Amino acid sequence: MLIYKKVLCRFPAMITRFTQLYIGLLVAIPCLATNGTMTKNLKVLVSSNDYPPTALKLLEDHFTVLQSRYLNFGQEGSTLGREEILKLIPGCSALVWISNLPITNEILDAAGAQLKIVSTVSAGYNHCNPEELRARGIQLTNTPNVLSPAVAEVAVGLILSASRRFTENLDQVRRGEWEIGFDKVLGQDLRDSTVGIIGLGGIGQAVVKRLSGFDVARFIYSGHREKPEAKALRAEFVSQDTLLEQSDFIVAAVPLTNETKLMINKETLGKMKPNAVFVNVGRGDLVDQDALYDALKNKQIYAAGLDVTTPEPLPKDHKLLTLPNLFVLPHIGSATVRTRREMAELAANNIVNGLTGKPLLSPVKL
Ligand code: DGY
Repeated sequence: MLIYKKVLCRFPAMITRFTQLYIGLLVAIPCLATNGTMTKNLKVLVSSNDYPPTALKLLEDHFTVLQSRYLNFGQEGSTLGREEILKLIPGCSALVWISNLPITNEILDAAGAQLKIVSTVSAGYNHCNPEELRARGIQLTNTPNVLSPAVAEVAVGLILSASRRFTENLDQVRRGEWEIGFDKVLGQDLRDSTVGIIGLGGIGQAVVKRLSGFDVARFIYSGHREKPEAKALRAEFVSQDTLLEQSDFIVAAVPLTNETKLMINKETLGKMKPNAVFVNVGRGDLVDQDALYDALKNKQIYAAGLDVTTPEPLPKDHKLLTLPNLFVLPHIGSATVRTRREMAELAANNIVNGLTGKPLLSPVKL
């Protein structure tokens, strides 16, 4: 009777212990997958040799990582890099894409049907063959938001350098022939101006925030619909025509899509004010560059600042580079140490999540 009582007393403790063991197992089994033991047989290809080590480690903790020995940019990317990728990609489950070179059907064919995720280390994904990825059931992730502050800083830099005529001023310094005079090389003020943002997404919002100390009179923006974030930024939603007609500074911060391609053209440039300064931190193909050249050459608009062009690199004898009222940068929007590391890590974590059955952190809606 005593023994029976003792067992009965311990019964709740035994149940608790059993439940703990059961829960422990439930947690442990998926952990095996996320800690790598069960995912090491999955191969992930990193397309370039300049991927940050912290991001590489995130992948190596879980998967077998293959990495191109070459840069995936420029001439190296389109020759050596291409061959290397075609050699390494068969059998890979995921691809980290560090490039603005296109992900071709040839690469997707070589990969094979087990390719599940392409993770581009960029916010823009126009080069990633999205329609083909959708048709093949391959998920695409990108790296938005983490780069917005860095790109917005470059947008502010372009606004200032174009409006204060840095190209011709720097040229004067280099030539040692300064045009010193009370009315020489005068620029345009941001103070009391109207700034128009085409696309008030993460980058557009970050531009408005950064310009809030410049005594801008009015921020306006255009896009598909009003943005809830705009209220706090005191930015007013307007039609694209109103934005073009009323802005002193116009910043294009939209992705390249069929809809936005060549949105800045002869007609839209024709709607801008003669003192307008146009800045592009989106993609080169948003702009009809011949029309922009004409508008700047004929002083139909005041100046422009570009971080993105078509092609990239812009050939050094390109006619745009003859213009004193154009300031051009070599696509450095996201190029800070911290931002590039954060982009690379986000790209890696997207793959870790995607291949271990967790939700993607920044999926692209295909
Ligand atoms: C992007 O990520 O799309 C940027 O253009 C890179 O600078």
